[in-house]
Formats: sequence, structure tokens, C-alpha cells
Amino acid sequence: MGKPIVVFGSFVVDLTSRSKGLPLPGQTLLGSSFKLGAGGKGSNQAVAAHRAGANVTLVTKIGSDVFGQVAMDFYRAEGMNTDYILRDSERETGVALIMVDEQSAQNEIVVVSGACAHITPEDVERCRPLIEGASILLLQHEINFDAQYRVIDIARAAGVKIVLNPAPAAEIPAEVLSKIDIVTPNETEAQALTGVEVGNLEDAKRAAKVFLDRGVKNVVITMGALGSFATDGVRSELLPRLNVNAIDTTGAGDAFNGGFVMALSEGRDLFQALRYGNATGALSVTKLGTAPSMPSRAEIDRMVRENYGL
Ligand code: RIB
Repeated sequence: MGKPIVVFGSFVVDLTSRSKGLPLPGQTLLGSSFKLGAGGKGSNQAVAAHRAGANVTLVTKIGSDVFGQVAMDFYRAEGMNTDYILRDSERETGVALIMVDEQSAQNEIVVVSGACAHITPEDVERCRPLIEGASILLLQHEINFDAQYRVIDIARAAGVKIVLNPAPAAEIPAEVLSKIDIVTPNETEAQALTGVEVGNLEDAKRAAKVFLDRGVKNVVITMGALGSFATDGVRSELLPRLNVNAIDTTGAGDAFNGGFVMALSEGRDLFQALRYGNATGALSVTKLGTAPSMPSRAEIDRMVRENYGL
């Protein structure tokens, strides 16, 4: 097996309700169903890459509590590497409160990162050999920033490709951004980070230019119903959204990132990887949940073949 993709990010337990509509402030709605399961953007992206057939190792931190056990049971059932699932003896495992509107398939989420927002410098040092030996490092914004910055410096010094999914949106110091090889915001995060409202191809190019001018090498913007955009600074492409029966869009961005880095790790270029990301994201919205909705490699290959002839 080649060098692994390392996903350095969050694990939280998703507590997901489904209801007709989403509550307004002060309103109580009766829901139709509830599910408890593995979530967190880092974990979801690692699961997506793993199911897509990549050699992936997740680094995250959980508490010594019942939700931490949910994580371990899930990874064992998936056959994922648990060597870098760090433990916090004092803090609780993170949680996400997710409300899904069963009519529109849209969601609202509050994340409390818990243990995975307390990754210490010692934890990072323990992971140094793993990071230095990675092909790709994939990060998001649900863990503590000081740990992220340390990990980025280790990866950069070792020549590891760094992919940052800046979700949820947060300010990124210019010095950190300039070290990123590929940034993968959605349209809302792109707007928050660049000030450019992204509603079409020209907007996406303008937002991407802001990132490129700040030193990022490649920009990918997932644009919901509009599809997915990528540029390497020379070529730009907006790939239309694939037509599927969407029942739950939660975790679609995570699926995209997992499928995207899997394809990069197999040596595909930015625009081919965009197609794998697009297909993985589209497939994930046809099933309920986050991690459980990540598609298999066979499903992704079929989608990519039928839609892109790859
Ligand atoms: O991107 C979806 C994820 O965001 C959910 O699994 C939830 O845990 C939040 O982190």
C-alpha cells in the first residue's frame, strides 16, 4: 500500500432529528425520527475516503465516555485504523445537534467539538511520523487551531500535499493560508473568507483569485445546486451538479472531500478529482445520515463512468 492520506480532524456524535420544516426561534416542532451515530467533518471525510478505497488514517480525539465508544465501535465495524484515535480522560466526546427538514433535505447544525478541540502539542508530536509519511493531509476547522497550524507546518516541511476544507468558516491567518495546496470551501465559506458572493462561474473565479493571490495553489468551491468549481490558476471549470434524488444533504461536503482526496491520492489531476468528489457528494445525499451515507467505491466508479466516461 502507498503512503496514507491523513485526515486530522473532528469526531463528534451526530444527534439527528427529521421533521417537516425547521423550527423558527422560539418554536417547537414535533419530529418524525431520530438517529444517533458517528459524525464530525474530519471523521466523515475519513470514512468517505476509506469507503472510496483509499488508504486513510484518521487522527482525532474522543472522551472516555459512551460517545467515545460509539466512535470505536463504528471504526472497528468499518475496518478503519484506530491507532490515532486519541483519548481525553477529562473532556467529553463532541456532539452535533442536527435538524433535517424532510421536505427540502436541508439542515441546521450546532457542533460542540468537545475532546477533539483539545488536541495538545504532545498529541501532535506523537503523530509527527504519521504526518511526515503521508501523501495528503486533509484538515477542517472543527479542531483547535493551534494544533492545525502545527500539523500544517509538519506536513509542509515534509513536502506533504495539504488540503484544507475550511468548514465551518473561520478566519485563516494569511501566513497559514499561503501554505495550503488546495482549499475546498463551499460557496458560503468562500464568501466568508473572500468577501465575494458566489452565485455563478464568474463569481467563483473572482473568489478563487482572492485565494490564489494569498498563495493557495489550487481552489475548489462546492456550490450546492450549481455544482463544483475548480481552478489551478490557469484552467477553471464548473462541473454541474449530478441529478439525484436528494433526501438528506448533511455531510455532502464531507463526501465530496473524501472522494476528491481519494482520487488525488491515486494520481488523478485536479479536474479528474473534481469529478470523483462531485460523484461521491451526489451519491451521499441519496441516503440518510452523514458517515453512514458515504458511498462505496463501486457506486462511485459507476457514477463517474456513466456521467464523465472516466
Ligand atoms: O458536515 C456534516 C457534519 O458537520 C456532521 O456530521 C456534524 O457532525 C458536523 O460536524
